[in-house]
Amino acid sequence: MIDRIRELAEAASDDIAAFFTEDAGRAEAFSIRFDGMLFDYSKTHISSEARDALLDWAEASRVATRRDAMFAGQAINETEGRAVLHTALRNLGGAPVLVDGRDVMPEVLETLARMERFCEDVRQGFVQGQGGTITDVVNIGIGGSHLGPEMAALALSPYQDGPRCHFVSNVDGADISDCLQGLNPETTLVIVASKSFTTVETMTNAETARAWMAGVVKDPGQQFVALSTADDKVAAFGIAPERVFGFEDWVGGRYSVWGPIGLSLMIAVGPERFREMLEGAASMDRHFQEAPLAKNMPVLLALVGLWHHQGRGYPTRAVLPYDQRLSRLPAYFQQLEMESNGKRVSMAGEPLTMPSGPVVWGEPGTNGQHAFYQLIHQGTQVVPCEFMVAAQGHEPELAHHHRLLVANCLAQSEALMRGRGIEEARALMAEKGFNGKELERQAAHRAFPGNRPSTTLVYDKLTPRRLGQIVALYEHRVFVEGVMLGINSFDQWGVELGKVLAKEIEPVLESGDTTGKDASTAQLVDFIRANRT
Ligand code: F6P
Repeated sequence: MIDRIRELAEAASDDIAAFFTEDAGRAEAFSIRFDGMLFDYSKTHISSEARDALLDWAEASRVATRRDAMFAGQAINETEGRAVLHTALRNLGGAPVLVDGRDVMPEVLETLARMERFCEDVRQGFVQGQGGTITDVVNIGIGGSHLGPEMAALALSPYQDGPRCHFVSNVDGADISDCLQGLNPETTLVIVASKSFTTVETMTNAETARAWMAGVVKDPGQQFVALSTADDKVAAFGIAPERVFGFEDWVGGRYSVWGPIGLSLMIAVGPERFREMLEGAASMDRHFQEAPLAKNMPVLLALVGLWHHQGRGYPTRAVLPYDQRLSRLPAYFQQLEMESNGKRVSMAGEPLTMPSGPVVWGEPGTNGQHAFYQLIHQGTQVVPCEFMVAAQGHEPELAHHHRLLVANCLAQSEALMRGRGIEEARALMAEKGFNGKELERQAAHRAFPGNRPSTTLVYDKLTPRRLGQIVALYEHRVFVEGVMLGINSFDQWGVELGKVLAKEIEPVLESGDTTGKDASTAQLVDFIRANRT
């Protein structure tokens, strides 16, 4: 299948704008609308023929069957023998979801209800710190136990009406030190978010937070909460069972914001807003399950991704939200996409015959325009851009700011497609009085190749519901890409080796005994030992 896609990708017209002159219906035909969202992928090199071939590939990969297997609780994470059921966390109607013949929904809904009760108790002051009402919540976690709530709390900050939320992830002492500075241990609630409750960064930070609190309050344990699947380890840390919110191993770390890992977010914005986010995600789940492949937003987003990376060979893709409050979304998508689809063997353990996931990166607009967009417009490698923007902001009194923001977003995709031909650049330079060789030289610098592809996702406003939809859209996109690549998107063995070696090197930094280490590592250890006090 991939050979056919590559053939089409190589033969594709290099004049994206021509698609629009040839076909007045191009924009609509290469867009999908769902609920309050519009996904426009018309500014790409994808022709109807290419789209048909991509859809054939999706059919041949049995995307719909695999999707149904995921929602049905089958163990599609085959290397770990686990179901993949983050979708159950937002199945608020409670329709049964069976794992090994057992309906998991009663437990999911009971945990959600417990989270909501606890959250209200914190927000209304019934759960107190030893110095009174909780003023600050510190979520300690990393990767999937950090990025989701951190990203969403910032995205939904206009809805924040609870205690202030802070997020600590890095084992670098600077992170926790800066966070705790200025907080009152007597009115701070610490949430230790770790699925495994063994992650070294999280456990080191949790111990530091406990020691910080122990200096001031009598019983720090009372101001700690755990979010984890590992009850025994949580108990050993000294957190009371009524302060533990558990979940099952069928919730992957990078898919876990919908359940207990989202507790800090729920405390910040309140249970009602949190539910709206879940409902948004659930509506995207239904769309993914019910819409035909050709009209299915996550499927099309995946097909565009595969076309660009596996078909046309573009090595990266940029996620460019024109929304300052989505500034952590690119980092969140980095984990979601690169930890899921950055694999080198197929589900069967065979080396892949095509590239797996692309490098995903990005920053919010308009900031990026004044930094890396130069390369996107004129650099030698093509970066497919995924723009997103809301029709309205949250600051009606600053509507003119939002108009400028939207105008910039739309202008970028237009400029990437149209470019500026050499003739136009020459005319510009001639107007400025250049001629001859110097005109040619100056014009060359001012020409833009154009024909650079992008997609744009627009929506009415960044509400909790829309955020849920956007995140679920990308989750399912990653799933579809994984199925079509034949890989397991739900394990992450690639993060293990570095962890093992870090454990080995830590004592070497103390002893200085670099026996068995390569010369470069030994040199680095020696330098660090010689340069610390
Ligand atoms: O090291 C990678 C990873 O396992 C991620 O997949 C996960 O989200 C993160 O670490 C945190 O893991 P935990 O929630 O178990 O602390």
